[in-house]
Amino acid sequence: MKVLLIGSGGREHALAWKIAQSPLLEEFYAAPGNPGIADHATLVALDVEDHAAVIAFAKEKSIDFVIVGPEAPLVAGLADDLRAAGIATFGPSKAAAQLEGSKGFTKDLCNRYDIPTGAYQRFKAAEPAKDYVREQGAPIVIKADGLAAGKGVTVAMTEDEALAAIDECFDGAFGAAGAEVVVEAFLDGEEASFFCLSDGKTALALATAQDHKRVGDGDTGPNTGGMGAYSPAPVMTPAMVERTMKEIIEPTISGMSKDGNPFSGVFFAGLMITAKGPELIEYNVRFGDPECQVLMMRLKSDLLPILYATATGMLDKVQAEWRDDAALTVVLASRGYPGAYDKNTPIAHIPDASEEAKVFHAGTALKDGQLVATGGRVLNVTAFGKDVTEAQARAYALTDKVEWENGFCRRDIGWQAVAREKA
Ligand code: AMP
Ligand code: GLY
Repeated sequence: MKVLLIGSGGREHALAWKIAQSPLLEEFYAAPGNPGIADHATLVALDVEDHAAVIAFAKEKSIDFVIVGPEAPLVAGLADDLRAAGIATFGPSKAAAQLEGSKGFTKDLCNRYDIPTGAYQRFKAAEPAKDYVREQGAPIVIKADGLAAGKGVTVAMTEDEALAAIDECFDGAFGAAGAEVVVEAFLDGEEASFFCLSDGKTALALATAQDHKRVGDGDTGPNTGGMGAYSPAPVMTPAMVERTMKEIIEPTISGMSKDGNPFSGVFFAGLMITAKGPELIEYNVRFGDPECQVLMMRLKSDLLPILYATATGMLDKVQAEWRDDAALTVVLASRGYPGAYDKNTPIAHIPDASEEAKVFHAGTALKDGQLVATGGRVLNVTAFGKDVTEAQARAYALTDKVEWENGFCRRDIGWQAVAREKA
C-alpha cells in the first residue's frame, strides 16, 4: 500500500513509526512531517490547506490511502475532497468533524440522543449568557463554541470569573470561535480519555489514556495542549468502558448516521467519570497528542489495516490487540510555553530508542544540519513499564539523557496512577 500521512506533530511521528512496521506498506510519504517522521517516510513540502495540491500529489504518486492526523484539515474538509477524488482517506468528513469543530453541535447531538453530558445552553450574545450564569450560579463552565487550540474553556469557580470569561469570548479573545458561547454545568469526577474507531456503522474500542493539561507540576499553571499522558487510565475499568460504548459511543454513531453525517475516523472522547457514570465533556475527531504516542506504544496489532478498514467500511473485519503494559510519555517543551518562547534553539543530543522507550519528535526542524526546536511542545519521551510507576521511571531516565538547554518538562507525569499503585 502507498500511504500519505498528513501532519507534523508528535502524534504523527508515533503514527508514522507504527505504520512503518506494517508489512503491507510499500511507499510512505508525509506532509509536511518533521525530522523524526523522516526516519520512516519521505517528507513532502505540501501546503495541506491547498486541497487540490494534496490531491494532485496523491494522484501523481498513486497513493492508495491518506491518513489525516490533525483536526484543522478535517474541519476544513480535506477528507471530503480526497474521497471525492477517489482516494481512501482516514478521517471524518467536514460535516462529521463538527463534533470537534463546534461544541454547540455536539451538545445538541447529546440532547437529541440522550447521551450523558452536562446540562447547557448556547448563546450568541453576552447578556443572556450572563443572566443564565447568574441563574445557575458557580461553579460553571464557559466555552467558546469553535476551535480555540484548547484555550477556549474556562472552568469558573466563581460567578465573577464566569461573567469575565463570557466577556472575553464575545470581545474576540478567540476570534470567530468565540462568536457563540456554550455555558455548561460543572461536572465533578475524574477525567479520562477514550479512543474508539468507527466506520459509520461499527465501533472498535481502542484504549484509554489520561493526560496532564496544566503546564506545572501538581497540575498548576495555565492549560497547554498536554504535557504528558499515560495509558491505560485506571478509572476506565472494563465495566466503565462498556458503559461508555453503550451510553455514549453507540448513540453517537447511530445519531450521526440518522442526521446524515455518518462518522468515519477516530473518536477521542473526553470523559468525566462522575458518581452517575461516564459523561461526555467533549469529542475530538483525531488522535490525541500526546495520547496517541502512548496508544501506539501499546498497540500490538498492525495499525495500517485497522485504519484502512475504518476508512473503507470494513471495521467489523479487524481487531486490535494491546500490550497489558502501561505506557507513559513526558513532553519536553520550550521554556516559556504555553506563553512566548525562543525558536530555533539547538537540541544537542537525543538518546537512542531501546526496547522499552522511544523519543518522538513534535516541534523540531533541521536547520543547516542542526536539530532545533521550533515549536512549544518539542519532544515526547515515551516508555513502557509493567505498571505506570515503571513506565514513569524509564521515561524520566531517558528524558534526562536529552541534551537541550532551552527545554523543560513536568517531573510528575502519571502522579495519580503512581499514587494508586503505591496504595
Ligand atoms: P475541553 O477543551 O472541552 O476538553 O475542556 C478543557 C478542560 O476543561 C477539560 O479537560 C476539563 O478539565 C475541563 N472541563 C470542560 N468541561 C467541563 C465540565 N463541564 N465540568 C468540569 N470540567 C470541565
Ligand atoms: N492532548 C489533548 C489533545 O490532543 O487535544
